[in-house]
Order: sequence, then structure tokens, then C-alpha cells
Amino acid sequence: MAKKEVPAARQTTINAQPRLHQNAREIQAYGTVSHALPLELEEPVRLEMTEQLNLLLADTMTLRDLYKKSHWQVAGPTFYQLHLLFDKHYGEQIEIVDEIAERIQLLGGVSLSMAADVAETTRIERPPRGREEVPVQISRLLDAHRIIIGHCRQLARRASELGDDGTNDLVVSDVLRANELQVWFLSEHLVDVPLVQAEEPDVRKAG
Ligand SMILES: [Fe+2]
Repeated sequence: MAKKEVPAARQTTINAQPRLHQNAREIQAYGTVSHALPLELEEPVRLEMTEQLNLLLADTMTLRDLYKKSHWQVAGPTFYQLHLLFDKHYGEQIEIVDEIAERIQLLGGVSLSMAADVAETTRIERPPRGREEVPVQISRLLDAHRIIIGHCRQLARRASELGDDGTNDLVVSDVLRANELQVWFLSEHLVDVPLVQAEEPDVRKAG
């Protein structure tokens, strides 16, 4: 009697072991965009916008981390309010990071993501590992905001010129305006006003 054939699918041994340590070539190189997407935005436009958005992303990720560093390391009589304020801004920057990164992917590009790549790309000065005084912490944060805000204004204008209204809207409505508001909240802490007793009017005149 002839042997009964076992179907090919049943010959494979079923094994619950996950396939670990897999490796393969990248499916898309950094700095490229998908060739054709139904977005009515040409490839060169998407290339330029994703390159600029990656710079904005690297700076925003750096600012986000600068806020967490400041939240942990702050000291002094305003500790509690600044500890909370820095963490609030950190949370808002996390959301901005995600929006920028996903805009890059949506445009067919590849978002920066890892700390080492961010460190190589950002224009924000690297702070020391140690703790600094409150006015120095706030000055660093304001300098970082200034870099981001300046870039936002240029990028928004360029996106508009190229017809990329989505990027223009993201940069103005979500990045620029949030950064402007955070600058206000920070910079008011650097106004030197008396904490407990107002200065005498005649003392001011004499000075
Ligand atoms: Fe915390």
C-alpha cells in the first residue's frame, strides 16, 4: 500500500520559541522620503520639510530633557512652584515632540529618535551634568526656547511658500504658540521685584 502524503504545512514542527536576535537591512534610510504619497506634495518639498522638522524635533527633544533636568535639580525658596512648573512644561513638550515626529513620518520621512542622534543634531548648548542656580536654569531654558521660536518663524514661512499648509499649521499653532507661552511663564521669574517689602517711593527717587 502506498504511503499517505502529509501536507507540507503539517510537516513543519510547531514551536513556541520566539525567534530572537533577528536582524535585517533597514527598510528606509534616514534623510529620505517615500517616493509617491497621495498628499499632493512633491518629493522635493517633503524632503526639505522633513529635514527642517527633524532639526526642530532635535531641539524640542533637548528642551524637553532640559525641563526634566531642571525639575529634578532645582533648589531654593521657589523650589516647589518651579518643580511643578518645569514638569508641566516638560509634559507639554512631550506632546509637541510626538506631533513633530509623526508629521515627519506622515510626510514620508524618517524621524530622529535616539538620544545620541539628537545630541549630534541639536543647536541647543549642552548643559553641565551638575546642578545650577535657578536664574541660570531659567536662562538656559529661555535660550533654548529662543532657538526653537526663531526656527519656527522661518520654517512656518517656508512651509507656506512651498504649499505645505499642514506643516505651517503645526509649526504655528502647536509649536510656536506653546513655546511663546512657556517663555512668558519663565521670563516673569527673572523680573527682580521685592519679595516681601515694597521699595519706598522716595528711596527710588533718590537713587
Ligand atoms: Fe517628578
